[in-house]
Formats: sequence, structure tokens, C-alpha cells
Amino acid sequence: MCGIFGYTGKKEAQGLVLEGLKHLEYRGYDSSGIAVLNGARHISVKKTDGKIRKLEEILKVHPLKGTTAIGHTRWATHGTPSPHNAHPHLDGESEIAVVHNGIIENYFDLKKTLEEEGIRFQSETDTEVIVHLVAKHYKGILENAVRRALKELRGTFAIAVMTSHESGKIVAAKLDSPLVLGLGKGENFLASDVSAVLTHTNRVIYLENGEMVTLTGEEFKITNFAGKAVSRKPVVIDWDVTRAQKGGFEHFMLKEIFEQPDILAAILKERVTGTRIHFDELKIPAAQLKRIKRILIIACGTAYHAGLTAKYIFEEFTDIPVSVDTSSEFRYRNAVIDKNTLLIAISQSGETADTLAGLREAKKKKALTLTLCNVLGSSLSREAKGVIYTHAGPEIAVASTKAYTAQLAVLYLLALYFAQIGAGSSKKITPALKEFMHIPVLMRKILDSYKRNESQWRDNAHDFSQRRKNAPNFFLYLGRHINYPNALEGALKLKEISYIPAEGYAAGEMKHGPIALIDENPWVICLAPKSKTYDKMISNIQEIRARSGCVIPIVTEGDEEIKKLNPIYIIQIPEVSEIFSPLLTVIPLQLIAYTMAREFGRDIDQPRNLAKSVTVE
Ligand code: AGP
Repeated sequence: MCGIFGYTGKKEAQGLVLEGLKHLEYRGYDSSGIAVLNGARHISVKKTDGKIRKLEEILKVHPLKGTTAIGHTRWATHGTPSPHNAHPHLDGESEIAVVHNGIIENYFDLKKTLEEEGIRFQSETDTEVIVHLVAKHYKGILENAVRRALKELRGTFAIAVMTSHESGKIVAAKLDSPLVLGLGKGENFLASDVSAVLTHTNRVIYLENGEMVTLTGEEFKITNFAGKAVSRKPVVIDWDVTRAQKGGFEHFMLKEIFEQPDILAAILKERVTGTRIHFDELKIPAAQLKRIKRILIIACGTAYHAGLTAKYIFEEFTDIPVSVDTSSEFRYRNAVIDKNTLLIAISQSGETADTLAGLREAKKKKALTLTLCNVLGSSLSREAKGVIYTHAGPEIAVASTKAYTAQLAVLYLLALYFAQIGAGSSKKITPALKEFMHIPVLMRKILDSYKRNESQWRDNAHDFSQRRKNAPNFFLYLGRHINYPNALEGALKLKEISYIPAEGYAAGEMKHGPIALIDENPWVICLAPKSKTYDKMISNIQEIRARSGCVIPIVTEGDEEIKKLNPIYIIQIPEVSEIFSPLLTVIPLQLIAYTMAREFGRDIDQPRNLAKSVTVE
């Protein structure tokens, strides 16, 4: 995790680096820092614990002058979040500065050796060994020193390095952590994520693993770690920067929840022509896909829940068996896969370390690999045989919402595409697409109803918080069949942004344990839209009510049955067939989490201890 940003050019660098870091703050936000190289060949550093705005306040009072700088926003792995553990780190003479994203696995041994050589360490971080190694090897040309230092490092890293001896120069290197160059006129940028450079330029180059770059305002030179020149053309990014701003919403998360109908409509417009589905960027020929005997999906967190939902979707529209695994479990299993397996890696960021490792494992076993991700040019998208982008636009809130529904939308279309190429029932395609086209309108109806009843939602959240003062309240989420993964997703969303304990369960599992938790305290969110398991959900609700449990059901408009069971609040969604219902039921779940977190005054967009991309194991 962590975000790094670098600038070199003719402008004052401090403001540009701060702005860049704010775009990367989702990657980590427990401490931050900046090093600026000025004309007098001196490196000045400011670091602090806390968020970027704290660093900004410090820099207002003590500005750092200079036109070359590197900055860092941290998610602690080694050493507590504190000013001395914050990056950039300096060598003993304060002549070299380093920022780092990743983990140096052999830092302990390196540190021991360096200490024996007389080096005094200032922090508990793994990163600090890098700066001392570069200093040790420095003989007047920074890139040579970095190259020699890299030979000694094991682990994952994206680093940026400057020295007071060479003005205007930044050297950066990448291995398994993302790094992108932004190419401007008379200025160049470095960042962990393309969204951080887009206000300045849309011409970017993604560094590949094992590559380094030497950057000045006027030029850049890419080589591999051995020093061999690499030539790479810039790509032009068409993301709209305004999509990464709040646009009048109180939080990015709320804005992103409200963007969902438009994103789905755009996905459908892009991927469906008449009754034909197409994935233009997919490099895997239809004939090869058709030969696949099974699909294995790997992902983490919310993306994993999209994968679980996909299993039901594929079972509905295709005849291909699907299994789903969390990437962190899959990568250490001895999974039986071969060239007839399609491994689909789902990831918003495309940088999740476990998913990337899982994909590599599958490639070793000769599986065909496909990445479904949101961030263009990400590591997963580059390493898989095929990629399908979800095009949800930059997702800034740490809690994933629009990326999830975009993943689901693409997975529905992918399943239907399999049916289209002969691996499923072609008869289902036209009616399914007809209904799918209408989903964005139905999503909008739910959001409009939330806006109309916002005060009621807030009152409910307030009621819960008052009750919680007297009893250890928590939430249970129950769902069945294709809405079971959404029960998991609802609980995850609540936990991560409100810190209220929550569990998601397959409602049928209720009797096998969780029912012991039921008394008048927990609130039980029951996903009960019209479906083939509706009657079973009614029985679950009755069982909860019989034990004085508080129920909030999510039902299909016009449902009279559940009303009779005296729920504390009923949330309605428009009528939709069961197979598409997750696209609707998830919206109230996102709004429940949001409203609760707001009631409890949480930091909704940047919840504690989390980071948007988990690039460490
Ligand atoms: C979602 O709200 C979480 N922040 C988290 O579970 C996330 O989905 C997970 O880390 C996977 O990230 P990815 O989609 O970028 O791979």
C-alpha cells in the first residue's frame, strides 16, 4: 500500500506533490512526508503522522522551496505511524532521500550488516535500508547507485530517490508495486496511480517489473535493472478528472453510490449492440474461450463477493462449472487447474498482491487467465492473457461500491457472452438483455426513494446508536441463493466504515448457530426480494421475530406478507427477476453502511486501518 508521488520541472514542487499525494491518500493515510531538492543542492524534509492535511498545515507555516520533490502517504507495515517512521527517509548525511511502496523482505539482514558497518538507523521501517544502500554505492551517478542497491533487495517495491548532488533528477524503480510516469512539457511526474497525474497530463507510461527510470524535467530514460535501455510509447488516458472530485456530495462514497445507474447504463451501451455482446479489448479468441471446461474466480474483499455472485450468474446462463476462492487462500492451495481452466481475477485496483500472486500461480499451471478490473494499465490487467475493464471511473472512497456493481454488470455480460459463443443457453440471451437494459432505471428509483426518505434513514441510524449505548448492538445480514453474497457484502461494508460488528450469513445456516445470537438487540437485515427462496426467508424472519429480534427486510415493492411480521423498517426495491436482483438489493446495503457511519461520525471515505489497494500480502 502507500502512495508515492514525484515531480521534477520548473514549477515550485511542494504544492504539486501535496496535491498528488491527496489523490493517493486512499492508498494509506496514517502518516506522510515530502522531500524537496532546491537549487542550493540541499534536500529539505517535512514529515508528520496523520493525514496529508496535517502535512499541508505544517508546510503552510514552513514552506519548502524547490522544483524537484518526492512525497509519500503511508500505510504502516514496519513500525508505528509516527513522524520518524514516515517517508521520505534520508541517509546519514541527508544527501539522499527515498520514498517506498512495498515491503523489503530481507531488510532485517541488510539492516544488521549496515549497522555493523557503522550506519545508525533513524526508524523502524524496512525502507530505511534502501537509502543507506544507495548512499553506500553512490559514486556521483544516482542511477548507478540505485541499480547496485536494487541487486541487494528482496521483496516488492516502487521507489523514488533523489540526491542533493544531482539537481532536477529523480530515479525510480519498480518490482511488484505500481508506478506510472506522467509526461508533461518541461516537467515530468511519478505516481503510484494514474489518477494522481491526470490533472497535469494524460500521457503516461506504466513501468514494468524490473524497470527503472531516470527522470528530469526535460527527459526520461527507462532501463531494466541490468541497465539495458527500454523503449516504450506513452499511452493516452481518457479518464475525466472531474470524475475524481466530490461533485457536491458530502463524501466520495455517497457520490460513487449515486453514480451507479449511469455507470451500468454506460457499460451496457459500450458492450451491447442490439442483442450482441462484445468485449472489444478481450484478446482471447471466442473459440479458445469455448473450449474452457471450468472457470475459477479469485478475488479479495468486495471483488470476492462479486465472484461469489458470478457463480450463480454463470450457472444460470452457461453450462460451465464455476468455483470461487479468495486469492489469499487460492495462492497457497495446491489447486487442480490446467489449460482447460479459465482463471478470472477480479479486482478494482488491479494491484491486489494476493490476487496478482494467484494469477501468476495459475499461469504457471498453464491456465488461461482473464483479469476483470477497473484501473487501466494495472499490473493484473497487464499480466493476464485477456483483460476486460469495468470502466467505473476512479473509485476514491476506500469502501468499494460502484466498482462492485460494475464488476457484477460485466460478469452478467460475460456469462451471456459465453452463452452467445455456444457455452450456454442462447435462448436466454435476448430476454435477459431486455431486462438488464432496464436495471439502471430501477437503480435510480431506489436512489430517488432514499433521497425522499433520507431523514427516516438517519432517524433509524440514530435509534440504533441510542440503543447501542445500553446494549452491545450489532448487525446480522441474511440472504439466500444469489443474494447470499450480498449479505456478506452488506456486512463487510458496515464493518469497514462504521466499525460496528456485523456478520453476513446464508439464511439457511441461521439455525446452525447464529440464531443463538438473537434477542432484542441485534438488527437483522434480511434480503427478501421475490425469489424462489422467498418463503424460506419468511420462515427465517418469523423465527427471528419469535425471539424478539429486530428485522429490517429488503423486499420487492408491494410486499404485504412481510409487513405483517412487524419489522422495524421496510426497504423496498422495484420488481426485478431474481437473477438480476443483486444489482438492486446491494444499493440499500451500501446506504445502510453509509448512514450508520455518518451517524457515528466516522471517517467515511478513509476508514481507519484500511487502504484502497492492498499491495502487500
Ligand atoms: C472493499 O470495500 C474493500 N475496501 C476491499 O475489500 C477491496 O474490495 C479488496 O481489498 C479488493 O481490492 P481490489 O478490488 O482492488 O482487488
